[in-house]
Amino acid sequence: MFPFPLRTTVSALSVLLHLSSIYVASSQSCGCTSIVIPVHVDVLVPKDPADPFGGLKSNASSLRRLDDTYDVFGVFCQPNTTSPKNADVIQLLVHGFTYTNQYWSPPTEEFRNYSYTEFACDRGLSSLAIDWVGVGLSSRPANASDVQYATGAAVLSQLARYLKTASILPGIQPFKRIIGIGHSAGSIMLNFGAIVDGAQSPFDGFILTSLLNVDLSTLAPLLGATSARDDTPLRWGALDPDYITTSNRSIFYPTDPTSFSPRMVIFDNFTKDVGSVSTVLQGDITSVTAHYTGPVAKVVGSEDGFFCAAGRCVDVAALTAAERILWPEAESFEVVVAQGSGHDLNLDFFAKGPFNTFVGFVNQFTGL
Ligand SMILES: *[C@@H]1O[C@H](CO)[C@@H](O)[C@H](O)[C@H]1NC(C)=O
Ligand SMILES: *[C@@H]1O[C@H](CO)[C@@H](O)[C@H](O)[C@H]1NC(C)=O
Ligand SMILES: *[C@@H]1O[C@H](CO)[C@@H](O)[C@H](O)[C@H]1NC(C)=O
Ligand SMILES: *[C@@H]1O[C@H](CO)[C@@H](O)[C@H](O)[C@H]1NC(C)=O
Ligand SMILES: *[C@@H]1O[C@H](CO)[C@@H](O)[C@H](O)[C@H]1NC(C)=O
Ligand SMILES: *[C@@H]1O[C@H](CO)[C@@H](O)[C@H](O)[C@H]1NC(C)=O
Repeated sequence: MFPFPLRTTVSALSVLLHLSSIYVASSQSCGCTSIVIPVHVDVLVPKDPADPFGGLKSNASSLRRLDDTYDVFGVFCQPNTTSPKNADVIQLLVHGFTYTNQYWSPPTEEFRNYSYTEFACDRGLSSLAIDWVGVGLSSRPANASDVQYATGAAVLSQLARYLKTASILPGIQPFKRIIGIGHSAGSIMLNFGAIVDGAQSPFDGFILTSLLNVDLSTLAPLLGATSARDDTPLRWGALDPDYITTSNRSIFYPTDPTSFSPRMVIFDNFTKDVGSVSTVLQGDITSVTAHYTGPVAKVVGSEDGFFCAAGRCVDVAALTAAERILWPEAESFEVVVAQGSGHDLNLDFFAKGPFNTFVGFVNQFTGL
Protein backbone atom coordinates (compact mmCIF):
# COMPACT_ATOMS: atom_id res chain seq x y z
CA MET A 1 0.00 0.00 0.00
CA PHE A 2 1.37 3.34 -1.02
CA PRO A 3 1.02 6.53 1.02
CA PHE A 4 -0.91 8.34 -1.69
CA PRO A 5 -1.90 11.87 -0.80
CA LEU A 6 -5.60 11.43 -0.07
CA ARG A 7 -6.50 15.04 -0.47
CA THR A 8 -4.03 17.83 -0.57
CA THR A 9 -4.95 21.42 -1.14
CA VAL A 10 -3.29 24.77 -1.04
CA SER A 11 -5.29 27.76 0.07
CA ALA A 12 -6.02 30.20 -2.72
CA LEU A 13 -3.98 33.02 -1.25
CA SER A 14 -0.30 33.07 -0.54
CA VAL A 15 0.70 35.57 2.11
CA LEU A 16 3.12 38.30 1.16
CA LEU A 17 5.55 38.88 3.99
CA HIS A 18 7.94 41.56 2.85
CA LEU A 19 10.11 42.66 -0.02
CA SER A 20 13.41 41.19 0.92
CA SER A 21 16.57 42.90 -0.18
CA ILE A 22 18.32 42.31 3.14
CA TYR A 23 18.17 38.54 3.52
CA VAL A 24 18.51 37.51 -0.08
CA ALA A 25 21.36 38.34 -2.38
CA SER A 26 19.70 39.87 -5.41
CA SER A 27 21.44 41.48 -8.32
CA GLN A 28 20.32 44.56 -10.23
CA SER A 29 18.36 42.40 -12.60
CA CYS A 30 16.60 40.31 -10.00
CA GLY A 31 13.84 40.90 -7.46
CA CYS A 32 13.20 38.56 -4.52
CA THR A 33 10.19 38.36 -2.21
CA SER A 34 9.55 36.25 0.88
CA ILE A 35 6.21 34.48 0.90
CA VAL A 36 4.27 32.03 3.06
CA ILE A 37 1.95 29.55 1.37
CA PRO A 38 -0.47 27.51 3.51
CA VAL A 39 -0.48 23.89 2.31
CA HIS A 40 -2.96 21.28 3.44
CA VAL A 41 -1.76 17.68 3.41
CA ASP A 42 -3.79 14.55 4.06
CA VAL A 43 -1.40 11.61 3.72
CA LEU A 44 -0.60 8.20 5.12
CA VAL A 45 2.73 8.06 6.95
CA PRO A 46 4.40 5.11 8.71
CA LYS A 47 3.57 4.82 12.39
CA ASP A 48 7.25 4.05 12.82
CA PRO A 49 9.31 7.11 11.81
CA ALA A 50 12.30 4.79 11.41
CA ASP A 51 10.57 2.82 8.61
CA PRO A 52 13.44 2.66 6.08
CA PHE A 53 11.09 3.01 3.13
CA GLY A 54 8.99 5.84 4.54
CA GLY A 55 5.80 3.78 4.18
CA LEU A 56 6.36 3.00 0.47
CA LYS A 57 6.68 -0.69 1.30
CA SER A 58 4.36 -0.79 4.32
CA ASN A 59 0.88 -2.25 4.61
CA ALA A 60 -2.17 -0.37 5.88
CA SER A 61 -1.82 -1.51 9.50
CA SER A 62 1.62 0.08 9.79
CA LEU A 63 0.45 3.45 8.48
CA ARG A 64 -1.41 6.33 10.09
CA ARG A 65 -3.28 9.25 8.60
CA LEU A 66 -1.78 12.72 8.88
CA ASP A 67 -4.19 15.54 8.07
CA ASP A 68 -2.82 19.02 8.72
CA THR A 69 -2.16 22.43 7.23
CA TYR A 70 1.32 23.91 7.25
CA ASP A 71 2.63 27.36 6.44
CA VAL A 72 5.44 26.87 3.94
CA PHE A 73 7.99 29.66 3.82
CA GLY A 74 9.80 30.41 0.58
CA VAL A 75 11.81 33.04 -1.22
CA PHE A 76 10.59 33.77 -4.73
CA CYS A 77 13.11 35.37 -7.10
CA GLN A 78 12.29 36.63 -10.54
CA PRO A 79 14.29 38.42 -13.23
CA ASN A 80 13.00 41.99 -13.75
CA THR A 81 12.81 41.39 -17.45
CA THR A 82 11.71 37.96 -18.62
CA SER A 83 10.89 36.93 -22.12
CA PRO A 84 7.46 35.30 -22.47
CA LYS A 85 9.21 31.94 -22.73
CA ASN A 86 11.13 32.33 -19.47
CA ALA A 87 8.02 33.61 -17.70
CA ASP A 88 6.48 30.15 -18.08
CA VAL A 89 9.23 28.37 -16.14
CA ILE A 90 10.03 28.19 -12.42
CA GLN A 91 12.56 26.19 -10.45
CA LEU A 92 11.38 24.77 -7.10
CA LEU A 93 14.52 24.57 -4.95
CA VAL A 94 14.63 22.08 -2.06
CA HIS A 95 17.45 22.20 0.50
CA GLY A 96 19.02 19.24 2.31
CA PHE A 97 19.25 17.99 5.90
CA THR A 98 19.95 20.76 8.47
CA TYR A 99 19.89 23.46 5.79
CA THR A 100 17.18 25.95 4.81
CA ASN A 101 16.26 27.93 1.69
CA GLN A 102 19.45 29.87 2.36
CA TYR A 103 21.50 26.99 0.91
CA TRP A 104 20.49 28.39 -2.47
CA SER A 105 21.48 31.95 -1.54
CA PRO A 106 23.67 32.48 1.54
CA PRO A 107 22.29 35.68 3.11
CA THR A 108 25.50 37.63 3.44
CA GLU A 109 27.38 39.92 1.10
CA GLU A 110 30.61 37.96 1.60
CA PHE A 111 29.10 34.82 0.07
CA ARG A 112 26.98 36.52 -2.51
CA ASN A 113 28.71 34.81 -5.41
CA TYR A 114 27.55 31.45 -4.01
CA SER A 115 23.93 32.35 -4.70
CA TYR A 116 22.39 29.93 -7.18
CA THR A 117 19.14 31.90 -7.18
CA GLU A 118 21.02 35.01 -8.30
CA PHE A 119 23.11 33.06 -10.83
CA ALA A 120 19.95 31.58 -12.36
CA CYS A 121 18.03 34.86 -12.18
CA ASP A 122 20.82 36.59 -14.10
CA ARG A 123 20.24 33.96 -16.79
CA GLY A 124 16.51 34.60 -16.94
CA LEU A 125 15.25 31.87 -14.58
CA SER A 126 12.78 32.34 -11.72
CA SER A 127 12.92 30.25 -8.57
CA LEU A 128 11.08 29.48 -5.36
CA ALA A 129 13.39 28.21 -2.59
CA ILE A 130 11.32 26.76 0.24
CA ASP A 131 11.99 25.67 3.82
CA TRP A 132 10.85 22.11 4.55
CA VAL A 133 7.96 21.68 6.95
CA GLY A 134 9.63 21.42 10.38
CA VAL A 135 12.54 23.62 9.33
CA GLY A 136 13.49 27.30 9.12
CA LEU A 137 10.52 29.64 8.93
CA SER A 138 7.99 27.00 7.85
CA SER A 139 5.58 25.45 10.39
CA ARG A 140 7.29 23.10 12.82
CA PRO A 141 5.00 20.27 14.01
CA ALA A 142 5.38 19.69 17.76
CA ASN A 143 5.89 15.99 17.06
CA ALA A 144 8.90 15.31 14.81
CA SER A 145 7.34 12.03 13.69
CA ASP A 146 4.96 14.10 11.54
CA VAL A 147 8.00 15.28 9.54
CA GLN A 148 8.55 12.32 7.24
CA TYR A 149 9.29 12.07 3.51
CA ALA A 150 5.62 11.32 2.80
CA THR A 151 4.72 14.66 4.38
CA GLY A 152 7.45 16.70 2.70
CA ALA A 153 6.87 15.13 -0.72
CA ALA A 154 3.11 15.81 -0.55
CA VAL A 155 3.87 19.44 0.30
CA LEU A 156 6.23 19.78 -2.69
CA SER A 157 3.86 18.16 -5.19
CA GLN A 158 0.98 20.26 -3.97
CA LEU A 159 3.07 23.43 -4.13
CA ALA A 160 4.00 22.56 -7.70
CA ARG A 161 0.33 22.11 -8.62
CA TYR A 162 -0.42 25.43 -6.96
CA LEU A 163 2.30 27.21 -8.97
CA LYS A 164 0.71 25.85 -12.15
CA THR A 165 -2.81 26.96 -11.36
CA ALA A 166 -2.60 30.08 -9.19
CA SER A 167 -0.81 33.39 -9.21
CA ILE A 168 1.95 33.28 -6.59
CA LEU A 169 2.01 37.09 -6.32
CA PRO A 170 -0.12 39.85 -7.83
CA GLY A 171 0.80 40.32 -11.48
CA ILE A 172 2.54 36.96 -11.84
CA GLN A 173 0.85 34.44 -14.09
CA PRO A 174 0.71 30.74 -13.16
CA PHE A 175 3.78 28.90 -14.43
CA LYS A 176 3.50 26.28 -17.15
CA ARG A 177 6.60 24.28 -16.37
CA ILE A 178 8.24 23.45 -13.03
CA ILE A 179 11.66 21.95 -12.56
CA GLY A 180 12.34 20.46 -9.13
CA ILE A 181 15.93 20.89 -8.00
CA GLY A 182 16.91 19.14 -4.79
CA HIS A 183 20.04 18.93 -2.71
CA SER A 184 20.80 15.70 -0.81
CA ALA A 185 17.78 14.89 1.43
CA GLY A 186 15.86 17.49 -0.62
CA SER A 187 16.54 15.27 -3.64
CA ILE A 188 15.22 12.29 -1.65
CA MET A 189 12.02 14.28 -0.97
CA LEU A 190 11.52 15.01 -4.69
CA ASN A 191 12.36 11.38 -5.50
CA PHE A 192 9.71 10.21 -3.01
CA GLY A 193 7.11 12.42 -4.71
CA ALA A 194 8.11 11.03 -8.12
CA ILE A 195 7.58 7.47 -6.82
CA VAL A 196 4.13 8.35 -5.45
CA ASP A 197 2.96 10.57 -8.34
CA GLY A 198 4.52 8.65 -11.26
CA ALA A 199 3.18 9.90 -14.59
CA GLN A 200 0.83 12.27 -12.70
CA SER A 201 3.73 14.26 -11.30
CA PRO A 202 3.28 18.03 -11.61
CA PHE A 203 7.04 18.39 -12.17
CA ASP A 204 8.37 18.81 -15.72
CA GLY A 205 11.85 17.63 -14.83
CA PHE A 206 14.08 16.86 -11.87
CA ILE A 207 17.65 17.83 -11.14
CA LEU A 208 18.63 15.70 -8.15
CA THR A 209 21.94 16.84 -6.71
CA SER A 210 24.19 15.09 -4.19
CA LEU A 211 22.22 11.85 -4.10
CA LEU A 212 23.07 8.38 -5.41
CA ASN A 213 21.51 5.00 -4.78
CA VAL A 214 23.81 3.96 -1.96
CA ASP A 215 22.68 2.16 1.21
CA LEU A 216 22.09 5.26 3.33
CA SER A 217 21.99 3.34 6.60
CA THR A 218 25.75 2.89 6.25
CA LEU A 219 26.25 6.60 5.55
CA ALA A 220 23.98 8.07 8.24
CA PRO A 221 26.55 7.65 11.05
CA LEU A 222 28.90 9.98 9.12
CA LEU A 223 26.51 12.81 9.98
CA GLY A 224 27.11 12.46 13.72
CA ALA A 225 23.55 13.70 14.29
CA THR A 226 22.41 14.58 17.81
CA SER A 227 19.18 15.90 19.30
CA ALA A 228 18.93 19.57 18.43
CA ARG A 229 17.89 20.40 21.99
CA ASP A 230 21.16 18.98 23.32
CA ASP A 231 23.23 20.58 20.55
CA THR A 232 21.94 24.13 21.02
CA PRO A 233 19.72 24.33 24.13
CA LEU A 234 19.21 28.08 23.94
CA ARG A 235 17.66 27.85 20.50
CA TRP A 236 16.15 24.37 20.41
CA GLY A 237 15.82 23.35 24.08
CA ALA A 238 12.03 22.96 23.83
CA LEU A 239 11.98 20.73 20.74
CA ASP A 240 10.93 17.07 20.55
CA PRO A 241 14.25 15.13 20.84
CA ASP A 242 13.54 13.56 17.45
CA TYR A 243 14.41 16.89 15.84
CA ILE A 244 18.12 16.45 15.21
CA THR A 245 21.09 18.38 13.84
CA THR A 246 24.81 17.98 13.29
CA SER A 247 27.72 20.03 14.59
CA ASN A 248 30.55 18.74 12.47
CA ARG A 249 29.92 20.06 8.99
CA SER A 250 33.22 18.88 7.42
CA ILE A 251 31.61 15.89 5.72
CA PHE A 252 29.69 18.36 3.53
CA TYR A 253 32.95 19.78 2.10
CA PRO A 254 35.79 18.29 0.06
CA THR A 255 38.69 16.86 2.08
CA ASP A 256 41.13 19.21 0.27
CA PRO A 257 41.08 22.30 2.52
CA THR A 258 42.11 24.60 -0.35
CA SER A 259 38.89 23.91 -2.24
CA PHE A 260 36.55 25.85 0.05
CA SER A 261 36.62 28.87 2.32
CA PRO A 262 37.08 28.03 6.03
CA ARG A 263 34.81 31.00 6.69
CA MET A 264 32.03 29.25 4.80
CA VAL A 265 32.21 26.30 7.20
CA ILE A 266 31.94 28.64 10.19
CA PHE A 267 29.01 30.44 8.58
CA ASP A 268 27.44 27.06 7.78
CA ASN A 269 27.72 26.03 11.45
CA PHE A 270 26.11 29.28 12.63
CA THR A 271 23.21 29.11 10.18
CA LYS A 272 22.46 25.38 10.37
CA ASP A 273 18.95 24.19 11.14
CA VAL A 274 17.30 20.92 12.18
CA GLY A 275 15.84 17.83 10.52
CA SER A 276 13.77 14.94 11.87
CA VAL A 277 15.08 11.45 12.59
CA SER A 278 12.98 10.18 9.68
CA THR A 279 14.95 12.39 7.33
CA VAL A 280 18.01 10.30 8.11
CA LEU A 281 16.42 6.87 8.67
CA GLN A 282 14.07 6.72 5.67
CA GLY A 283 16.59 7.55 2.94
CA ASP A 284 16.47 4.07 1.42
CA ILE A 285 13.33 5.02 -0.49
CA THR A 286 15.75 6.04 -3.24
CA SER A 287 16.20 2.35 -4.04
CA VAL A 288 12.50 2.15 -5.05
CA THR A 289 11.69 2.53 -8.77
CA ALA A 290 10.02 5.77 -9.88
CA HIS A 291 7.63 5.49 -12.85
CA TYR A 292 8.06 9.14 -13.63
CA THR A 293 8.03 10.00 -17.33
CA GLY A 294 9.77 13.40 -17.50
CA PRO A 295 13.50 14.10 -17.81
CA VAL A 296 15.83 13.45 -14.86
CA ALA A 297 19.43 14.48 -14.18
CA LYS A 298 21.66 13.75 -11.23
CA VAL A 299 24.63 15.94 -10.35
CA VAL A 300 27.14 14.80 -7.75
CA GLY A 301 30.54 16.17 -6.66
CA SER A 302 33.60 14.00 -7.34
CA GLU A 303 34.70 14.79 -3.76
CA ASP A 304 31.32 14.03 -2.14
CA GLY A 305 32.28 12.26 1.11
CA PHE A 306 28.98 10.35 1.25
CA PHE A 307 28.40 9.26 -2.30
CA CYS A 308 31.67 9.35 -4.21
CA ALA A 309 33.90 7.59 -1.67
CA ALA A 310 35.62 4.37 -2.72
CA GLY A 311 35.95 5.42 -6.37
CA ARG A 312 32.20 5.19 -6.92
CA CYS A 313 32.07 8.23 -9.22
CA VAL A 314 35.08 7.54 -11.42
CA ASP A 315 33.32 5.54 -14.15
CA VAL A 316 30.46 7.89 -15.05
CA ALA A 317 29.02 5.56 -17.72
CA ALA A 318 28.75 2.68 -15.24
CA LEU A 319 27.32 5.00 -12.59
CA THR A 320 24.73 6.33 -15.04
CA ALA A 321 23.69 2.81 -16.05
CA ALA A 322 23.31 1.78 -12.38
CA GLU A 323 21.28 4.87 -11.43
CA ARG A 324 19.11 4.75 -14.55
CA ILE A 325 17.54 1.42 -13.46
CA LEU A 326 15.50 3.27 -10.83
CA TRP A 327 14.02 5.66 -13.43
CA PRO A 328 12.96 3.20 -16.18
CA GLU A 329 10.38 5.49 -17.80
CA ALA A 330 12.24 8.78 -17.58
CA GLU A 331 12.24 10.59 -20.92
CA SER A 332 15.97 11.17 -20.50
CA PHE A 333 18.44 10.38 -17.74
CA GLU A 334 21.93 11.74 -17.18
CA VAL A 335 24.49 11.74 -14.39
CA VAL A 336 27.07 14.52 -14.18
CA VAL A 337 30.06 14.23 -11.84
CA ALA A 338 31.22 17.76 -10.98
CA GLN A 339 34.99 17.61 -10.69
CA GLY A 340 36.41 18.94 -7.41
CA SER A 341 33.04 19.60 -5.77
CA GLY A 342 32.07 18.21 -2.37
CA HIS A 343 28.64 17.18 -1.07
CA ASP A 344 27.52 20.81 -0.75
CA LEU A 345 27.96 21.58 -4.46
CA ASN A 346 26.87 25.19 -3.93
CA LEU A 347 29.25 26.11 -1.12
CA ASP A 348 32.81 25.46 -2.31
CA PHE A 349 35.11 27.17 -4.82
CA PHE A 350 33.87 24.92 -7.64
CA ALA A 351 30.23 26.04 -7.33
CA LYS A 352 30.11 27.86 -10.68
CA GLY A 353 30.57 24.54 -12.51
CA PRO A 354 27.45 22.91 -11.01
CA PHE A 355 25.53 26.21 -11.35
CA ASN A 356 26.15 26.18 -15.09
CA THR A 357 25.17 22.50 -15.20
CA PHE A 358 21.85 23.18 -13.40
CA VAL A 359 20.96 26.08 -15.72
CA GLY A 360 21.91 23.95 -18.73
CA PHE A 361 19.55 21.17 -17.64
CA VAL A 362 16.69 23.59 -16.89
CA ASN A 363 17.04 25.07 -20.38
CA GLN A 364 17.26 21.60 -21.92
CA PHE A 365 14.20 20.29 -20.02
CA THR A 366 12.05 23.31 -20.85
CA GLY A 367 13.22 23.98 -24.40
CA LEU A 368 14.46 27.46 -23.51
C1 LIG B 1 15.14 44.89 -10.33
O1 LIG B 1 14.25 44.73 -9.22
C2 LIG B 1 14.88 44.93 -7.96
C3 LIG B 1 13.89 44.57 -6.87
O2 LIG B 1 12.60 44.94 -7.21
C4 LIG B 1 15.38 46.36 -7.86
O3 LIG B 1 16.04 46.55 -6.63
C5 LIG B 1 16.35 46.64 -9.01
O4 LIG B 1 16.74 47.98 -9.00
C6 LIG B 1 15.69 46.30 -10.36
N1 LIG B 1 16.71 46.42 -11.40
C7 LIG B 1 16.45 46.95 -12.59
C8 LIG B 1 17.58 46.99 -13.55
O5 LIG B 1 15.33 47.39 -12.89
C1 LIG C 1 1.57 -5.50 8.17
O1 LIG C 1 2.29 -4.68 9.10
C2 LIG C 1 2.19 -5.13 10.44
C3 LIG C 1 2.83 -4.08 11.33
O2 LIG C 1 4.07 -3.66 10.81
C4 LIG C 1 2.84 -6.51 10.54
O3 LIG C 1 2.73 -6.97 11.87
C5 LIG C 1 2.13 -7.46 9.60
O4 LIG C 1 2.79 -8.72 9.61
C6 LIG C 1 2.12 -6.92 8.19
N1 LIG C 1 1.31 -7.76 7.34
C7 LIG C 1 1.69 -8.14 6.11
C8 LIG C 1 0.72 -8.97 5.36
O5 LIG C 1 2.77 -7.81 5.62
C1 LIG D 1 4.21 11.55 18.14
O1 LIG D 1 3.18 10.97 17.37
C2 LIG D 1 3.24 9.54 17.33
C3 LIG D 1 2.19 9.06 16.35
O2 LIG D 1 0.95 9.62 16.61
C4 LIG D 1 3.06 8.99 18.74
O3 LIG D 1 3.19 7.60 18.70
C5 LIG D 1 4.13 9.59 19.66
O4 LIG D 1 3.91 9.17 20.98
C6 LIG D 1 4.13 11.09 19.59
N1 LIG D 1 5.26 11.63 20.32
C7 LIG D 1 5.15 12.62 21.18
C8 LIG D 1 6.41 13.07 21.83
O5 LIG D 1 4.08 13.16 21.42
C1 LIG E 1 34.62 16.16 11.74
O1 LIG E 1 34.45 15.11 10.82
C2 LIG E 1 35.60 14.82 10.06
C3 LIG E 1 35.23 13.75 9.06
O2 LIG E 1 34.21 14.18 8.24
C4 LIG E 1 36.72 14.37 10.97
O3 LIG E 1 37.89 14.16 10.22
C5 LIG E 1 36.98 15.46 12.01
O4 LIG E 1 37.92 14.99 12.94
C6 LIG E 1 35.71 15.84 12.74
N1 LIG E 1 35.95 16.99 13.60
C7 LIG E 1 35.58 17.02 14.86
C8 LIG E 1 35.88 18.29 15.61
O5 LIG E 1 35.03 16.09 15.40
C1 LIG F 1 29.54 25.73 15.86
O1 LIG F 1 28.88 26.82 16.48
C2 LIG F 1 28.74 26.65 17.88
C3 LIG F 1 27.95 27.84 18.39
O2 LIG F 1 26.70 27.88 17.76
C4 LIG F 1 30.07 26.53 18.54
O3 LIG F 1 29.89 26.29 19.94
C5 LIG F 1 30.84 25.38 17.92
O4 LIG F 1 32.15 25.33 18.44
C6 LIG F 1 30.91 25.54 16.41
N1 LIG F 1 31.53 24.36 15.85
C7 LIG F 1 32.48 24.44 14.93
C8 LIG F 1 33.02 23.13 14.45
O5 LIG F 1 32.89 25.50 14.50
C1 LIG G 1 33.54 34.00 -4.95
O1 LIG G 1 34.51 35.02 -5.02
C2 LIG G 1 35.67 34.74 -4.27
C3 LIG G 1 36.53 36.00 -4.27
O2 LIG G 1 36.57 36.58 -5.54
C4 LIG G 1 36.39 33.54 -4.89
O3 LIG G 1 37.52 33.22 -4.14
C5 LIG G 1 35.42 32.37 -4.87
O4 LIG G 1 36.00 31.29 -5.57
C6 LIG G 1 34.10 32.71 -5.54
N1 LIG G 1 33.18 31.65 -5.30
C7 LIG G 1 32.52 31.09 -6.27
C8 LIG G 1 31.55 30.05 -5.88
O5 LIG G 1 32.67 31.38 -7.43
